Amino acid sequence: MAEVVLITGCSTGIGRDMANELTRLGFTVVATARKPDTMENLRADLRLPLDVTDPKSVERAVAKTMQKYDRIDVLINNAGFGSRGMVEEIPMETVQAVYDVNVFGVLRMIHSVAPIMRRQGSGRIINISSIAGRVVTPVNGVYSSTKFALEALSDALRWELAPFGVFVVLIEPGVINTHFSGTFQKQGVSNEQITRSPYKHLYEKIANLSARMRTSGSGPEVVTRTALKAITSAQPKARYLAGVNLPSRLLLLLRDHIWEPVASRIFKFQMEDSNANNDQI
Ligand SMILES: NC(=O)c1ccc[n+]([C@@H]2O[C@H](COP(=O)([O-])OP(=O)(O)OC[C@H]3O[C@@H](n4cnc5c(N)ncnc54)[C@H](OP(=O)(O)O)[C@@H]3O)[C@@H](O)[C@H]2O)c1
Repeated sequence: MAEVVLITGCSTGIGRDMANELTRLGFTVVATARKPDTMENLRADLRLPLDVTDPKSVERAVAKTMQKYDRIDVLINNAGFGSRGMVEEIPMETVQAVYDVNVFGVLRMIHSVAPIMRRQGSGRIINISSIAGRVVTPVNGVYSSTKFALEALSDALRWELAPFGVFVVLIEPGVINTHFSGTFQKQGVSNEQITRSPYKHLYEKIANLSARMRTSGSGPEVVTRTALKAITSAQPKARYLAGVNLPSRLLLLLRDHIWEPVASRIFKFQMEDSNANNDQI
């Protein structure tokens, strides 16, 4: 039987592209999404409802996959979202919601699937992290922190599961054109709050920077191609960049030496720009 690949967050974007393409390539794909009707036109062998924040939903989806195929060869933890906000301003309920999907959701999946892979003596867990899991920018601190957490958990899990024949791989996409940035702006700090924020100018600066970066963003297929490498390589790497351009790769390489001074210049905003707002708060 073709390898069984379970993917979370297949309603849109990267998850949807991976489900379609891996099915086309002959893998047995179990596509999941919290709203199953979003998967009506999706190519997959099995489509299941799965909300990664709900332990019962995780349990049911994994049990149904096992009932049908009796194995899970690849788990792709893709579901995730970001939310805009300076660390000081982002509402606690938003922070909790982002962690519930990006960190605890991944942990719920791992707790459910890792024992199956361990018993099989084989498997691959592919965690969709981000370049934001390596480099932090203002406005993105909470999202970044979830991906840093994912990087740490994945590194530990890689060593823990290696003796059982299970690989753990991180994929770190750059800017990918999906629903991600729309969701990012809708969550967290609202446009209205930004107009009154002492950080208004930095919000604007980052929004302009992000808009420019999105114009040279990649399609989700670059992440799918990278996932395919991670699935088929005899010895997959610990982490793969995907859709990260040369300047960003260079920046990443030199980060420890030059990132702080370069970032300080990029993100510098004049206090006088903000004093008016600062005084009002
Ligand atoms: N796009 C980028 O620039 C970029 C860069 C680096 C990393 N990433 C990562 O790539 C992954 C996929 O994002 P994307 O770019 O494809 O964005 P997207 O189009 O917004 O897709 C996000 C997916 O996550 C799902 N999701 C959210 N909460 C969920 C929950 N509680 N349970 C199950 N699924 C849930 C969404 O489902 P609903 O439709 O139901 O909300 C959707 O299917 C994320 O982990 C993201 O952090 C994206």
